[in-house]
Amino acid sequence: MIKGSEIRKADHPIEPFLIDRWSPRAMSGEEISEEERWAPSSFNAQQWRALYARRGTEHWQTFFDLVVDANKVWAKNAAVLIVFISRKFFDYNDEPSVTHSYDAGAAWENFALQGFHQGLVVHGMEGFDYDRARKELRIPDEFQVEAMAAVGRPGPKESLPEKLQARENPNDRRKLSGSIFEGPFQAGK
Ligand SMILES: Cc1cc2nc3c(=O)[nH]c(=O)nc-3n(C[C@H](O)[C@H](O)[C@H](O)COP(=O)(O)O)c2cc1C
Repeated sequence: MIKGSEIRKADHPIEPFLIDRWSPRAMSGEEISEEERWAPSSFNAQQWRALYARRGTEHWQTFFDLVVDANKVWAKNAAVLIVFISRKFFDYNDEPSVTHSYDAGAAWENFALQGFHQGLVVHGMEGFDYDRARKELRIPDEFQVEAMAAVGRPGPKESLPEKLQARENPNDRRKLSGSIFEGPFQAGK
């Protein structure tokens, strides 16, 4: 699996491991073992949860059927499909948490960095049926369905349809000056 820094050029100095992580789609279909977690969150509440299904096990088809066809063509070779959810209320007092999605996003990103560092493909997906996920996975209303991810061992680019083969490279980012501003809000592109 190539590293992002082999292709990407950041417009500011940045730790290489952040540029290196990217989201390939080509996976081999091989199995992988269980994962780890370590992420910051508001009040260290860790209001996020991850539900997963391993390929070839009883829950795989349920998870796979949530995914849109455009993602199925490559996610079929994943070893694990994950649904990230977050609890909208703090466990300790049941008051609403403003940052539950933000915290779940931090957890997901650490997961993605860790997985990439271990040589795995970790690819986020919002292309799935959120309502169906809630229903099929019996996710209570107090949890928000955030996103899915496909994880697997890298596979040959040729396993992808031609259109996706052409996109199987680390992509670019807009300039930092379009996202980060000193002082009050400014419209940036
Ligand atoms: C929350 C989230 C949802 C995503 N949904 C999809 C998706 O449904 N299908 C897909 O092919 N890629 C999806 N992606 C991958 C993004 O397109 C990709 O992360 C983005 O283009 C940046 O590229 P990079 O991850 O290679 O740096 C998703 C990524 C994230 C973080």
